[in-house]
Amino acid sequence: MSGSSEVVIDRMHEADVSAVVAIDATSPGSSAWDEGQLRDELERAWAHLWVARGASGPVAFIATWHVADELHVLNVATHAGHRRRGHARALLQRALSFAAERGVRLVLLEVRRGNDGAIGLYRGLGFVAMGVRERYYNDGEDAVEMLLRLDETGRPVPGVDEVTLG
Ligand SMILES: CC(C)(COP(=O)(O)OP(=O)(O)OC[C@H]1O[C@@H](n2cnc3c(N)ncnc32)[C@H](O)[C@@H]1OP(=O)(O)O)[C@@H](O)C(=O)NCCC(=O)NCCS
Repeated sequence: MSGSSEVVIDRMHEADVSAVVAIDATSPGSSAWDEGQLRDELERAWAHLWVARGASGPVAFIATWHVADELHVLNVATHAGHRRRGHARALLQRALSFAAERGVRLVLLEVRRGNDGAIGLYRGLGFVAMGVRERYYNDGEDAVEMLLRLDETGRPVPGVDEVTLG
């Protein structure tokens, strides 16, 4: 585990499933995983999930897939009552450290075009916008595809947007 004395970044365990589903449920437009789907994720050899764990349990989580030299960020969410305290940034930094250790060269994710908070979070870590998938979500909102390249030592490679988000 790593982090401050109050909240630590830890691997997600089976015992965290109901708390993590509750966090996800506080996020409109989230992945809306149910407990069964989350348990399935925990079983997958290529899935890597972490939580930000406070004294009373998880307050944020991240779910990723490590495939070849890519890390896909499937979801990151912080409980609505615990936002803007750096938990999502700390979780992404943990995932990026893991990616660097494993020789990952591309970190990829999709985010709703209107999700300014999440886009700002990703940009702060060096992600750039590489594409837009029009009407990607069920409600018709576009997805922005974001990318972070890592060099052979695991350090982020500075990049520029390949699409204009407007
Ligand atoms: C997006 C989300 C994960 C951010 O979680 P968080 O723990 O509050 O984020 P952090 O405190 O680590 O924020 C880090 C930085 O991201 C940016 N950021 C995060 N939330 C923001 C917001 N609502 N508005 C603007 N910038 C925001 C800021 O730059 C922030 O740094 P600062 O607080 O020093 O200004 C959270 O709002 C959330 O769970 N939203 C619903 C789920 C979601 O949209 N997930 C993304 C799926 S792709």
